[in-house]
Amino acid sequence: MNFTYQNPTKLLFGEGRISEITKHIPAGSRVLLAYGGGSIKKNGVYDQVIAALDGFFTIEFSGIEPNPRFETLEKGVALIKENQLDFILAVGGGSVVDGCKFIAAAAYYDGDHWDIPRGKHRISQATPLAAILTLPATGSESNGNAVVTRKATGEKLAFGSPHVYPVFSVLDPSTMKTLPERQLKNGLVDAFIHVCEQYLTFPTGALVQDGFAEALLRTLIKLGKEFDQHDQDQWRANLMYAANQGLNGLISCGVPNDWATHQIGHELTARFGIDHAQTLSIIQPSLLRNQIELKRAKLEQMGSAVFGLPATDDLAEKTVDAIEGFYQSLSMPVRLSDANITDQGDIDALLNIIAGRNFLKAIGENGKITPEVIREIVIAAR
Ligand code: NZQ
Ligand code: ZN
Repeated sequence: MNFTYQNPTKLLFGEGRISEITKHIPAGSRVLLAYGGGSIKKNGVYDQVIAALDGFFTIEFSGIEPNPRFETLEKGVALIKENQLDFILAVGGGSVVDGCKFIAAAAYYDGDHWDIPRGKHRISQATPLAAILTLPATGSESNGNAVVTRKATGEKLAFGSPHVYPVFSVLDPSTMKTLPERQLKNGLVDAFIHVCEQYLTFPTGALVQDGFAEALLRTLIKLGKEFDQHDQDQWRANLMYAANQGLNGLISCGVPNDWATHQIGHELTARFGIDHAQTLSIIQPSLLRNQIELKRAKLEQMGSAVFGLPATDDLAEKTVDAIEGFYQSLSMPVRLSDANITDQGDIDALLNIIAGRNFLKAIGENGKITPEVIREIVIAAR
């Protein structure tokens, strides 16, 4: 397949790089400093950012929640307009970065801002933004994607635009020191499944993309096996860079993509509030088993190149077992019941919502995952 690749985000990787941010923010910028629930005040990141921004006009916007909400983000858009701000600095995890992408695009759109995630408005301009990442997982720090949730309607929708790539992002692994184990494991597994969504489809002979994806998968498995070393600088640095490379657009160039696990997972978060990565570890093994004939060749390739499994007739099945075992080794849920979703009425309500979503009519790399197939996948994941 033909492709055009451009990733405009400058990465500032390593300890102490926050102090350099104003070299990359235009002089005289009026800055919206956006963050989440306050973790950055406990780990010194906030103080470093305030010191670095000395001399810049800054308005703070805190309280962007995990799975950032439209209702909250609208307040950020208002701050931009009221104060004529022209630069956004997102400090936090994927939710803060995604939320700032929405604010950046909405600041240049006079219509109903929800048109952005629902695809009714094509973004043509956005406030420039940059990120200081404190949680490696989503790759949002150097991609053009974002996911926002509307509490009032229970929707969690993704959008993307070249106009919302961060101008630069600081990846300082020492900011990860205060991450709870749950968030570190979520980040590792989210990154792993991002690579899978771009790799576990069907063979196209794309040696470079496959080889790079396999290197990332092996890296993430190694970091998972060595999770007891997560307090070491090298472990943190490797996770931060692996998660970044897993979703910066590179490995998806010119190859089929799946993303069905993510699309179903977003519905689980919207309905039940399950952490993003945990929805994926619940859905993906079930989806792979359901789609095994269509994905057999790539599963076999992954089994041998990533897990080092022998070439047997059931290599694809063994590979799915190995993937599921990897999540279980990190205490991630692999069934809805592991996340305490056991009520059949709740599951039926979820399936009804899914059946009504136009964008879930034919998903996956072959468009073969219909609402009826999603039903099978979700039921098998109970
Ligand atoms: O809000 P604060 O107080 O900062 O706490 C956060 C939050 O509670 C905390 N945290 C972050 N850095 C920390 C820290 N706690 C201690 N020390 C630190 N250094 O972690 C919690 C979770 O943060 P969040 O940003 O929600 O996590 P994540 O980075 O996993 O982002 C998840 C969101 O990204 C979307 C997901 O759907 C979800 O909404 N995604 C975005 C993608 C993209 N833009 O490309 C792709 C992904 O597939 C994903 O869908
Ligand atoms: Zn994800």
